[in-house]
Amino acid sequence: MLEVSGIKKTYESRGRSVEAVRDLTFSVGQGELVCLVGPSGSGKTTLLKIMSGLLQPTSGEVVLGGRRVEGPPPGLALVFQEYGRSLFPWMSVRQNVELPLKQKKLPAARRRQLAEEALQAVGLADVHGAFPWQLSGGMQQRVAIARAIAHEPQVLLMDEPFAAVDAQTRADLEDLLREIWRRLKVTVLFVTHDIDEAVYLGQRVLVLSGSPTVVQQDLVIDLPDERDQLSTRSTARFAELRAQVYAQIHRPAAGYVRTPADSARSH
Ligand SMILES: Nc1ncnc2c1ncn2[C@@H]1O[C@H](COP(=O)(O)OP(=O)(O)OP(=O)(O)O)[C@@H](O)[C@H]1O
Ligand SMILES: [Mg+2]
Repeated sequence: MLEVSGIKKTYESRGRSVEAVRDLTFSVGQGELVCLVGPSGSGKTTLLKIMSGLLQPTSGEVVLGGRRVEGPPPGLALVFQEYGRSLFPWMSVRQNVELPLKQKKLPAARRRQLAEEALQAVGLADVHGAFPWQLSGGMQQRVAIARAIAHEPQVLLMDEPFAAVDAQTRADLEDLLREIWRRLKVTVLFVTHDIDEAVYLGQRVLVLSGSPTVVQQDLVIDLPDERDQLSTRSTARFAELRAQVYAQIHRPAAGYVRTPADSARSH
């Protein structure tokens, strides 16, 4: 469904160059829910921008459903890291959700129906007339999710979507995401820096190294499909899997040499 091959991105600005992504190659099968976990600054947002056609890679390519991505592909939706900045404050919740459907040139009645179904799916059917700034953070993030699913995407990319909400809301949103994924059979690539969240949500976890970024491990999460915040997280297998991911993240990248300055910093 989604193939990322040899993606490299170096940002050039004012004579300075930053190598954000060194060499990323992985694929995501149709209907899979894959989590990508990596430390801050490891190029996760850069990668998602490249995958959604918003940014050109320095080299490499992304192929979505057999077609090379060169601009925003029609069957793809992206939920951004900062929900506060991704909703238009002067538009009602329903108008925000309907906005991308206008670009699809759907008739007004169909747009309204899709928006209402999506808001229902995220439990916000009764606030469609409110403005985003009248809602809590977790509700705003649910509006952003509704906007993405109203678009009926084949692939949903999510960039640390739950990082800014409280723990209880976050747990609810995680379960909501798994429910939507199972119901809509959409392919999901979920980016997070939270190891527990990656293991709880994913069928697979891709572990990115710190900068310069490569895929350090591709781990199958063999937990049962029925997951529950309390019981799943307290199983021995969950603890083993999270320990495996943790060990990978805290391993220096290949070819990395510890300097005396590093040792001084870690003491
Ligand atoms: N527009 C840009 N111009 C120059 N450098 C950039 C730009 N965007 C990102 N970078 C650099 O690229 C690297 C990766 O950034 P990116 O935002 O992709 O990381 P991230 O993994 O999403 O981090 P976080 O977890 O904090 O969101 C960082 O070193 C960042 O400073
Ligand atoms: Mg980011």
